[in-house]
Amino acid sequence: MLLTMRMRVLGIESSCDETAAAVVDEHGLVLSDVVESQIALHAPWGGVVPELAARDHLRAIVPVVRAALRDAGTELDALSGIAVTVRPGLAGALLVGTLVAKTLSWSTGLPIVGVDHLVGHLLAVHLRRPGAPAPPPYPFVALLASGGHTAIYRVDGPLAANIVELGATRDDAAGEAFDKVAKLLGLGYPGGPVVDRLAKEGNPRAHDLPLPMLAGDSLEFSFSGIKSWVARHVAREGRPASPAAMADLCASFQRAVVEVLARKTIRAAKAEGVSHVVLCGGVAANRGLRERAAALCEKNGLVLSVPPIASCTDNAAMIAYAGAMRLVAGERDDASLTTSTRTQLPRVTRKGRGRRDAGERSDP
Ligand code: KG4
Ligand code: ZN
Repeated sequence: MLLTMRMRVLGIESSCDETAAAVVDEHGLVLSDVVESQIALHAPWGGVVPELAARDHLRAIVPVVRAALRDAGTELDALSGIAVTVRPGLAGALLVGTLVAKTLSWSTGLPIVGVDHLVGHLLAVHLRRPGAPAPPPYPFVALLASGGHTAIYRVDGPLAANIVELGATRDDAAGEAFDKVAKLLGLGYPGGPVVDRLAKEGNPRAHDLPLPMLAGDSLEFSFSGIKSWVARHVAREGRPASPAAMADLCASFQRAVVEVLARKTIRAAKAEGVSHVVLCGGVAANRGLRERAAALCEKNGLVLSVPPIASCTDNAAMIAYAGAMRLVAGERDDASLTTSTRTQLPRVTRKGRGRRDAGERSDP
């Protein structure tokens, strides 16, 4: 297929603990993708420390943007626009990327578009890079599971206005549960990758963990009960003494999380009458989740698309692509562009309280 390249959009991402910049065209072709992770900075604290994150973005952002332009073989002047994550995320972290993007836009005259980080994750399956699946047609149902968010969405198109939340977690995000359980077990931060690796060696039926909110037709999640089960287990019996016992506990915990994530995503696709399913966010890197979702999709006649890991975890290519879609639609922001710690996507689940009543307004 011959694709003409008309647009080159610089994406900037600094909402949490990755400083990232990328250049992408409007077909999703990734021309450069630079991610500088702060994992080592936050690891001693067992989680992201907001002030350290903001300060490190300030240190890294200019070299990261320079590297993204260099890798793409482009100059600022040759770009079509600048996209930047403006929400949701850590307040101080978001300000760094947004101020850099506004300054670049002001000095070059390039259009600027703010992007919701969650929209970026939901569209990441459209990025064209080695190992990427053919992008699914709209509409698709997507599970977005990361360290800060876990929800199921119906995606009818590439703009925020085309996306609705179908159900979300009432408490912890799935990645947060992996991270907290890893901390309880002394496995370090972030927890997902190490629990995933150990789970591969263990017996997922060794322990019988609760599968919360699986009955009925709910599309909401709750992971705090699973985490508390592990906390009580460790308080009672101590941390697993042998590598085999540790692997069994990790495998059983992972099975419980994966089972509810996969089953509810398939439930949502069937309820919406949608045949394409997408996994995205850092937890979509999980081997167990990929396998279980693939098996359930096959059984139910659904088509599953899972982006490569570089598109699942935080990156700026997904922000550049989401921004390109806004530019293609004729949308622009201006010098008044500002940040918010909340998503712009309408939410049906309220943390700690469950579903909103029909017609109730979303938070600002
Ligand atoms: O999307 P992401 O890079 O950043 C956020 O926006 O949060 O997701 C990071 C989260 C962390 O909680 C991490 O533990 C989890 O994704 N994660 C995983 C795996 N790889 C990363 N969770 C389960 N299994 C994995 N293989
Ligand atoms: Zn993210």
